[in-house]
Amino acid sequence: EKSGYDHFMLKEIFEQPQTIFDSLRGRLDAKSGTLTLGGIREHAAILSQAKRIIIVACGTSWHAGLVAEYMIEELCRVPVEVEYASEFRYRNPVVGEGDVIIAVSQSGETADTLVAIESAKQKGAIILGVCNVVGSSIARLSHAGAYTHAGPEIGVASTKAFTAQLAVLCMIGLKVAQEKGTITQQRFQHLLDELDAISEKVATTLKLNDQVKQIADKYKDARDFLYLGRGYNFPVALEGALKLKEISYIHAEGYPAAEMKHGPIALVDENLPVVFVATRDSYYEKVVSNIQEIKARKGKVIAVVTEGDQTIPGMADDVIEVPAADELIAPILSVIPLQLLAYHIGVLKGFDVDKPRNLAKSVTVE
Ligand code: F6R
Repeated sequence: EKSGYDHFMLKEIFEQPQTIFDSLRGRLDAKSGTLTLGGIREHAAILSQAKRIIIVACGTSWHAGLVAEYMIEELCRVPVEVEYASEFRYRNPVVGEGDVIIAVSQSGETADTLVAIESAKQKGAIILGVCNVVGSSIARLSHAGAYTHAGPEIGVASTKAFTAQLAVLCMIGLKVAQEKGTITQQRFQHLLDELDAISEKVATTLKLNDQVKQIADKYKDARDFLYLGRGYNFPVALEGALKLKEISYIHAEGYPAAEMKHGPIALVDENLPVVFVATRDSYYEKVVSNIQEIKARKGKVIAVVTEGDQTIPGMADDVIEVPAADELIAPILSVIPLQLLAYHIGVLKGFDVDKPRNLAKSVTVE
């Protein structure tokens, strides 16, 4: 059942070229330039007229929601808020008709997310589910939705569900943008082509496994880690830190790179590994100066960069090169080395990576 892999987590990380492909299949046709999302077709008009979109989720799914916020605001020019389901639920939020809620959940059973959308639905909001488990409670409660087709995720730490969520949320953004006319035909086609090529690039990225394992060995005894990124890679930094905490029990924090100087920089010394998610995008130059700031304080920099980067390898202690991709979908690639890093550190430390202590696969209590 682990198909020759030592752990489900590793198997699921390596399944990603296929699971992303499966999530795109039958929906994306780059050749003919079409995108079909059967589950939201009837609601496409409502979606495109939404005054705002609220994404509700927990944990890793919340991180996917944060990436989607950047994607959807960019593509659809509609305000997007991303809420922790538990906070959204309990603070008596202003929500009602005209609002569209996207609930993102691998299991479709997370109690906080379920209860949050139940009450929003009662208040007249339209609920769109992005779930992995077919027929799950959240999927059933939703008016419409698009499944991720990542297959069963056994490892408690979410990996392949996250990249499938990113692919599906990007398609939703593209569909709404097309409906609203907020995207040019050229950009639409370009992003279809980029999505079409992403599985292949994920497969290439997975070839970094041995290199990431060496990096894991070098830093496995660190007490804390900092993960930094900007723009589309900011949620990837959060996700990298969450994976490390869950799997290796090392304290890790993710931050938007520029926030570092508003506090966390006080932690930096020669013992602190700082993981930068620094692929080539519109934030790149700014991230390079953030790396300089860390190096000036003797922090150890591990950087995830785009293949062929000429600048960061001269500054960082360790560099991991991923294929180039449009910044909207680059997180699908840049998260992979971070999943592998957490996995290898956990294994090297002798922990049960498939069943981290204190965690359950789906959190069905509020
Ligand atoms: C992290 C993890 C959790 C889940 C969260 C939401 O690796 O697995 O943070 O992402 O409990 O679960 P779903 O997506 O099932 O609602």
